[in-house]
Amino acid sequence: MTRKIIIDTDPGQDDAVAILLALASPEEIEVLGITAVAGNVPLALTQKNARIVCELAGRRDIRVFAGCEKPLAHALVTAEHVHGKTGLDGIALPEPTMPLQDTHAVEFIIDTLRQEPPGTVTLCPLGPLTNIATAFRTAPEIVGRVQEIVLMGGAYFEVGNITPAAEFNIYVDPEAAGIVFGSGVPLTVMPLDVTHKVLTTRPRIEAIRDLDTEVGHAVAAWTDFFERFDMEKYGHDGAPLHDPCVTAWLVRPGLFSGRHINVEIETASPLTRGMTVADWWGITDRPKNAMFMGDVDAQGFYDLLTGRLARL
Ligand code: RIB
Ligand code: CA
Repeated sequence: MTRKIIIDTDPGQDDAVAILLALASPEEIEVLGITAVAGNVPLALTQKNARIVCELAGRRDIRVFAGCEKPLAHALVTAEHVHGKTGLDGIALPEPTMPLQDTHAVEFIIDTLRQEPPGTVTLCPLGPLTNIATAFRTAPEIVGRVQEIVLMGGAYFEVGNITPAAEFNIYVDPEAAGIVFGSGVPLTVMPLDVTHKVLTTRPRIEAIRDLDTEVGHAVAAWTDFFERFDMEKYGHDGAPLHDPCVTAWLVRPGLFSGRHINVEIETASPLTRGMTVADWWGITDRPKNAMFMGDVDAQGFYDLLTGRLARL
């Protein structure tokens, strides 16, 4: 059964790999459109990078939309220290020639959810949740029409990566995350707890480079660049490939396991802004609003990813 999705993204090398995996999996995924949001780098770059990735995959037909250029209530925080000044550092790819759609990303999300049958569109945010939250605030009637939200963000046991308490996507726009996690839409969450288990070890990246395709070389070059930050910080044998956990789950959910629990977002305290307060041990009676992933078959994930990238 093919799932219709909108990918909301702030490319970002790991976003790029997630998009490629989606585009390489037409049996499971139909990409209705890609909506760019400010995050890893400013919007002018994330919307351009999304088009670069589509052209790398030979998919100039994919509609790419530009969305919100800043979070709901805070100044934008970016992550060039991880992703480089372009957001896709590691390899120089041609400037995109496919057009950016004129429609604002938020309008596209609203229109799509109004036009598609209820419960048939999955939203896949890979960056800050500004576009999704803005769509929900602008057109509340679409919330009940969303099939599911499958997102990368948050952390519990792994704690924060941009502050001691918070993961980047949630930290950048905690108010937006609060709207999404409080929306009542079924949520499947890929937190750092699971993404830190899919590390870009050398054998895994060499297997991708050995595809000896333009896509294989680009993905290997991107991971060679972006892994240096996490490897230095965590001392691991590789870096977490965060965002492809979202599209891998759509293709092969059995790779992942977690718990259906309550997750709330800290928006008040400057110290813990953006923390995902996950009731993993069922201590409260707060409503269970999220399938919070905690474990993954890492080699199975990379075998799937490599096999699908070989198709492009
Ligand atoms: O914390 C990791 C997340 O922040 C990933 O989505 C990465 O692309 C950045 O957006
Ligand atoms: Ca991202």
